[in-house]
Amino acid sequence: MTQENTQHPVRKAVLPAAGLGTRFLPATKATPKEMLPVVDRPAIQYVVQEAVDAGLDDLLVITGRSKRALEDHFDRIPSLEDQLEASGKDKLLEAVQHASDLGDLHYLRQGDPKGLGHAVLRAKTHVGHEPFAVLLGDDLIDEKETLLEDMIKVQESTGATVVALMEVPQEAISAYGCADVSVVEGQDYVKVNRLVEKPKPEEAPSNLAIIGRYVLHPDVFEVLEHTGPGAGDEIQLTDALQELAGRDGEGGGVYGVVFRGRRYDTGDKLSYLKANITIASEREDLGPELREWLVEFAKGLETA
Ligand code: UTP
Repeated sequence: MTQENTQHPVRKAVLPAAGLGTRFLPATKATPKEMLPVVDRPAIQYVVQEAVDAGLDDLLVITGRSKRALEDHFDRIPSLEDQLEASGKDKLLEAVQHASDLGDLHYLRQGDPKGLGHAVLRAKTHVGHEPFAVLLGDDLIDEKETLLEDMIKVQESTGATVVALMEVPQEAISAYGCADVSVVEGQDYVKVNRLVEKPKPEEAPSNLAIIGRYVLHPDVFEVLEHTGPGAGDEIQLTDALQELAGRDGEGGGVYGVVFRGRRYDTGDKLSYLKANITIASEREDLGPELREWLVEFAKGLETA
C-alpha cells in the first residue's frame, strides 16, 4: 500500500566507510578501501559528489580505524594550496580545492565494525526522525545516472523505505542481499515482499541484488536496535529492512528501484580494475591515449 508522506524531504546522507576491506588486503591494511584511488581521486569522493549532486547537503561519514586519511582528504591544506598557486599549477589547485569544497561533511567512528546495520545505527542521533540516504563508500554509480534522485522521488511519494536493486547472474547472488519483488501497477518501481542476505543461489527468491544505495525511513533505527547478528555474524541492514518490509502503515514497507546502468564495487579487485579502466578511458585528458593503448593490448591478448 502506498502511504501519504507527511515527513521531511530527504537532505541527509550517511556514508558507511568503516568496513575492514579484507578482500583488498594488503592495500587496506592502513588505508580504508574507500580511499583507494579510482584514476586520480579516492573512491569515496565520487560517492560524496553523487550525494551532493542529488541535492543532499548534510553528509555523515561513518569511519573506522584509519579515519585520518579520510578526514584529511576532504579538509583544506593551505600549505599545499599555496605551493600549487605559487608554481602556477592551476588545474591541480582547482582539483585539490574541489575536494574540500564539496559540502558539509561530518564524521563518526563506528568503533567495532559489527556490520553495515551497526554502522547505520551509529547515525541515529545525527539523522533524527527524518528519511535519509545511505551511500556505500566503495560502491560507484556512473555519474551520468540518476539512481539516487529517482530513489528519493520514490521515497517522497511512498513515505516508505527504498532500496536499489540490480540483476546479477544467479550464481553471484550469494554475495548480496536478495529481494523478492512484485510489480506496482502503473509505477516504474517495485514492491519488495521479502529480503534475504547472502542466500545460496538455489534458495534465492530472485536474481535481484541489493546494491549500495538506500533511502531509509527513520524507523529503521528502532528496528536495528533489536536486530541481532545475521549472515557472517554481522548486524545486517538487510535483516532490518526485511522487518520493515513486513510492516504496514507509517514507517513500514520497502520499495525497490531496479538499476540497469553501470556500477562498480571498488572493494572487489576485479570490479575496481574495471572502474579505473572505464572511467579513465572516458576522461578527456587520459581517454584518447588509453583507448589507443587498450586496443593494441587487446590485440596482443588475442594473438597470445
Ligand atoms: P562490505 O561488506 O563491502 O565491507 O560493506 P567490508 O566488510 O569492509 O568488506 P570485506 O568483505 O572485508 O572486503 C559494505 C560497506 O559497508 C561498510 C563498508 O565500509 C562498505 O562501505 N561497513 C561494513 C561499515 O561501515 N561497517 C561495517 O561494520 C561493515
